[in-house]
Amino acid sequence: MNGKKPANTPGPAAGKTEPVTSGTVKTGPSKLPASQVSAPRTAGPQAAKPAPAGKPVRVITVSSGKGGVGKSNITLALALALAGLGRKVLIWDADLGLANTDVLLGIRTKATIHHWLKGEKSLREIIIKGPKGINILPAASGILELNEISEAQKARLIAEFEQWQEELDFLLIDTAAGIGPNVIFFNLVAQEHLVILNNEPTSITDAYALIKALNTKHKQSGFYLLPNMVAGPKEARAVFELMSNVAGQYLTSVSLDLAGFIPYDEVVPASVRKQTPFYILYPDSPASLQVTEVARYLIGRESPAFGAGGLVLFLNRLVNAERAVD
Ligand SMILES: Nc1ncnc2c1ncn2[C@@H]1O[C@H](COP(=O)(O)OP(=O)(O)OP(=O)(O)O)[C@@H](O)[C@H]1O
Ligand SMILES: [Mg+2]
Repeated sequence: MNGKKPANTPGPAAGKTEPVTSGTVKTGPSKLPASQVSAPRTAGPQAAKPAPAGKPVRVITVSSGKGGVGKSNITLALALALAGLGRKVLIWDADLGLANTDVLLGIRTKATIHHWLKGEKSLREIIIKGPKGINILPAASGILELNEISEAQKARLIAEFEQWQEELDFLLIDTAAGIGPNVIFFNLVAQEHLVILNNEPTSITDAYALIKALNTKHKQSGFYLLPNMVAGPKEARAVFELMSNVAGQYLTSVSLDLAGFIPYDEVVPASVRKQTPFYILYPDSPASLQVTEVARYLIGRESPAFGAGGLVLFLNRLVNAERAVD
């Protein structure tokens, strides 16, 4: 316990129409810059490779703790919103059990990263093109294999992904529910963490459990909170403050930021049934408008810590990570 009261100061959200939704709370003596938080141990030649100069690639996980809170729908909509704002986005569908980004898009996935691992396909061949030029890397239970791949495969993965460096601004990783090893793994190799939650005790406690695990066991310090299926900004702020108060009491060196909110909106389930993203079908719906605000917020959160080499840093961690994440 650090006894510090959360300071709900406005975050540097760009172009926010609902300033009441932004906010920041920092706990503990200091907030470590993202570059100093612990990550999976690295080893081998790739680990020592300096990040090349180039434009930043932001690698952001979308997680929740509790399942069914809207991660996949929001990840997809956020990718489309970022694309609409001129950013190039790749979604990595990392929900190994219940992959569904392709289902939400009504696209049948033919090849996954398994085909890449077997050397049958290049990454470009397995990546699906979505609306507005977004790209999707379909889910596959690939992490175990990624840990076991040969040095030659690692080099191939990095070389192929590096080709994306110039074509990518954001890599959004849609993780599975829960706080299992894969969710923790992806959160450790990414540099930023977006946590989706609903205004329900189970969702809030599960999101807290995720943040706590990442903070206490794995020294991750910064999290964006995004309340989904709420009535409006007031409810979102209440959720944020609840989480901030608990984090302020029990966690040290954690920084929570309210990234906005997504209202409960019938267009979301209606679009799921039509297998077309709500952001495409209903661009003027309340949910879509708020997704655009969240995209603007994220764009406004550029920081030197997420600078050039973000993708390479991510890849180095990915291929060199030890699986000691439970
Ligand atoms: N803002 C919203 N308004 C109304 N319904 C929503 C909203 N967001 C998500 N939903 C509904 O919630 C359900 C779960 O959404 P989604 O599949 O995106 O969640 P998830 O967190 O990815 O789930 P899982 O943990 O199973 O991967 C869907 O049926 C979707 O239609
Ligand atoms: Mg999902």
